[in-house]
Amino acid sequence: MLRLGFFGFGCVGQGLYDIIRNTPNFPAEVVRIAIKNPEKGRSLPSSFFTTEAEAILNDPSINVVVEMTNSPDEAYQIVCEAMRRGKHVVSANKKMLADNLANLVDLQQQTGTSLLYEAAACGSIPIIRNLAEYYDNELLHSVSGIFNGTSNYILSKIFSENLDYHRALKQAQELGFAETDPTSDVGGFDALYKLCIIAAQSYGLFVKHKDVLNFGIESLTDFDIRYAKEKSCKIKLVAQAVKTSEKNLLLAVMPQFIPRENHLHKVDMEYNAVVVEAAFSDRQVFVGKGAGGHPTGSAMISDISALRYGYRYEYRKVSATNPIQYHTDVTAHVYCRTRNQAEAAFLPFQHIAVQYSEDGFHYIIGTLSFTEMLMHKAYIQQKGIFLALMPEQVYAQVERRPTKRYAVSV
Ligand SMILES: NC(=O)c1ccc[n+]([C@@H]2O[C@H](COP(=O)([O-])OP(=O)(O)OC[C@H]3O[C@@H](n4cnc5c(N)ncnc54)[C@H](OP(=O)(O)O)[C@@H]3O)[C@@H](O)[C@H]2O)c1
Repeated sequence: MLRLGFFGFGCVGQGLYDIIRNTPNFPAEVVRIAIKNPEKGRSLPSSFFTTEAEAILNDPSINVVVEMTNSPDEAYQIVCEAMRRGKHVVSANKKMLADNLANLVDLQQQTGTSLLYEAAACGSIPIIRNLAEYYDNELLHSVSGIFNGTSNYILSKIFSENLDYHRALKQAQELGFAETDPTSDVGGFDALYKLCIIAAQSYGLFVKHKDVLNFGIESLTDFDIRYAKEKSCKIKLVAQAVKTSEKNLLLAVMPQFIPRENHLHKVDMEYNAVVVEAAFSDRQVFVGKGAGGHPTGSAMISDISALRYGYRYEYRKVSATNPIQYHTDVTAHVYCRTRNQAEAAFLPFQHIAVQYSEDGFHYIIGTLSFTEMLMHKAYIQQKGIFLALMPEQVYAQVERRPTKRYAVSV
């Protein structure tokens, strides 16, 4: 019998509790729930709750800690302590995991416990266990997709209902799809944490999220939206892990032009999608809800259930003899919209296909390296520059037939 100690009883904690209560004969019992604020009203008797972590960590009858707090630093202490005391851990805390995964994997090894975290990457989509098990021996070319539902909801409203960015964000906040401070979602941080977790499971690469490039959608203007629509594209926030050579892996989170033929074009609203490109299985697309109490809880109950037969991630792709490295020495076609020509001139384009100015907007479509984008990240963000990747087919179209109005110089 699994005896569970919950840490956190917010959106995910309550969702998971509800699922456990409604799953007949589920062989696990919620023993105690640690929360932060004792004054908050709760839907369960007060005897369930504690503000003392030790009440769970020190209870020998509890064999699984289910970590669903919103405090990454405290969560790390809780998870480490639980594992040191021989308890298995199931966590949804993507930031905590992305910050500390390498240490936690070591600790799993040392303590013989199991740390599972399906819910931390794209909620209900069962991608982590698939990467760990199903794609165990596959040569993965890339794992990419829409890893953040809030920004996808906002972008969907913009492209389907002609809202501007600020109205779409406000609507998402009113409906509970976006936080009051939306930075983590619209700035591409949430997707970045998930990308780091996915990179570990896909390629055995542990990378610090601070080293990886992430641009968000905060500086998207009506001008950019109109341009994308003219090219029959949507803009989506795309996270990608792409193997660029035997030893090198590119990681980035950036807005991207998505033409109609692309699988991600139809993935709208709060849905997430993960696209796996592999040598033998070819392309596979997983679509599902990436957030919400029940979708996230469904991934957690699957992890808890897997503990019944002693399941743990083995990290078989981590290789001391043939390690893969994160690198950014790759070029990409980008759309770069600035407020004026001088701002754009600051960026070291290797090739410029089109550039144009109109009413306080200036854009360049050309080739930039990820290293340069990373190096100039602070400048790009400070100036409110909007950068989006252009897939080859969209770029080829722009280069061949620049819309007359836009083709000022090449
Ligand atoms: N929401 C989603 O759809 C979703 C999806 C995937 C992953 N996640 C991840 O899941 C985690 C929980 O998200 P959430 O949306 O459920 O957050 P939430 O609604 O803000 O709830 C957080 C819970 O954590 C409790 N808490 C905070 N610090 C604690 C501590 N030191 N000890 C014990 N409890 C503590 C809070 O206590 P009080 O109730 O007393 O404030 C609250 O119950 C986060 O890491 C998030 O990134 C969320």
